[in-house]
Amino acid sequence: MKEKLEALRQEALDQLQGVEDVQQLNDLRVKYLGKKGALTEILRGMGALSAEERPVIGQVANEVRGAIEEVIESKQEAFQKAETEKRLQAEKIDVTLPGRKMTQGGIHPLNKVIEEIEEIFIGMGYHIAEGPEVETDYYNFEALNLPKNHPARDMQDTFYITEELLMRTQTSPVQIRTMEKMQGEVPVKIICPGKVYRRDDDDATHSFQFNQIEGLVIGENIRMSDLKGTLLQFVQEMFGPSTQIRLRPSFFPFTEPSAEVDVTCVKCGGSGCRMCKHTGWLEILGCGMVHPKVLEMGGYDPEKYSGFAFGMGVERIAILKYGIDDIRHFYNSDMAFLKQFARK
Ligand code: DAH
Repeated sequence: MKEKLEALRQEALDQLQGVEDVQQLNDLRVKYLGKKGALTEILRGMGALSAEERPVIGQVANEVRGAIEEVIESKQEAFQKAETEKRLQAEKIDVTLPGRKMTQGGIHPLNKVIEEIEEIFIGMGYHIAEGPEVETDYYNFEALNLPKNHPARDMQDTFYITEELLMRTQTSPVQIRTMEKMQGEVPVKIICPGKVYRRDDDDATHSFQFNQIEGLVIGENIRMSDLKGTLLQFVQEMFGPSTQIRLRPSFFPFTEPSAEVDVTCVKCGGSGCRMCKHTGWLEILGCGMVHPKVLEMGGYDPEKYSGFAFGMGVERIAILKYGIDDIRHFYNSDMAFLKQFARK
């Protein structure tokens, strides 16, 4: 029996020498040390031994088991180490490699100008109002004193969705919506930035979609001089403290009187250059005293209250402020163009 055990030890150790992976190792562990393994098989014969022989053989059996286990364990450890090593190699990161550069976005020049204009008017106590881009004929035209068949409707080529629904052609409908919301309360002091739509063919100075900022003030004793002072304050903060304005008589159905506002040329300061076509002035917005009919339609008594309103094109302001030569630059996502306005 002792010889059998010695032979088993020899055979097991020989086989373990040639083991190549964990699977083979486990197979051999089962084969030699498992419950139905070779060692157990031999030990079954122990019952036939004499009382003196039994402890001797028992000790040999334990030694054989121990020797085999030891080899299995050390092999196991070696396999594990090799496995870990392999993984480490595969997952190795070279921290000295230069990183991949992330491009950082910036704020769009139009949004930048809108934010700046908002800041200026918030500083004068205005609130920001909003309205829908899909608008009804009533708010976009009728309540602004442009009844159906009014000739001034020709001034704005409109995208109609149905006969009553359209893409707003101006931010002026927010005047009416604001008045309705305020329910006759004063003062009303809002500006409303937003997109507007017109059936224009796109070119260097026209776009079927652009941005406007509307302004509306209603209260008691609001006068034309308040309008003029407000606009002067605005342009001086926007274009520089030496900027001057002039008001030219004009016509809008929702204001009476109406005016167009020019600023001294942002390039030459008024002495005359190509940008201002040698006039010294640049047109920047339309404005006027809110028409009594518009006040009435918004729920304000024109005998008691008065107000002024103005509307400007954001693209136009941005073009003047930054000397941009083509409105399409704002819309075609050219990184070289946009990068110039990214926040540093
Ligand atoms: N809504 C006008 C336009 O799109 C601009 C405008 C002019 C707005 C005079 C006003 C205003 O509020 O009083 O051309």
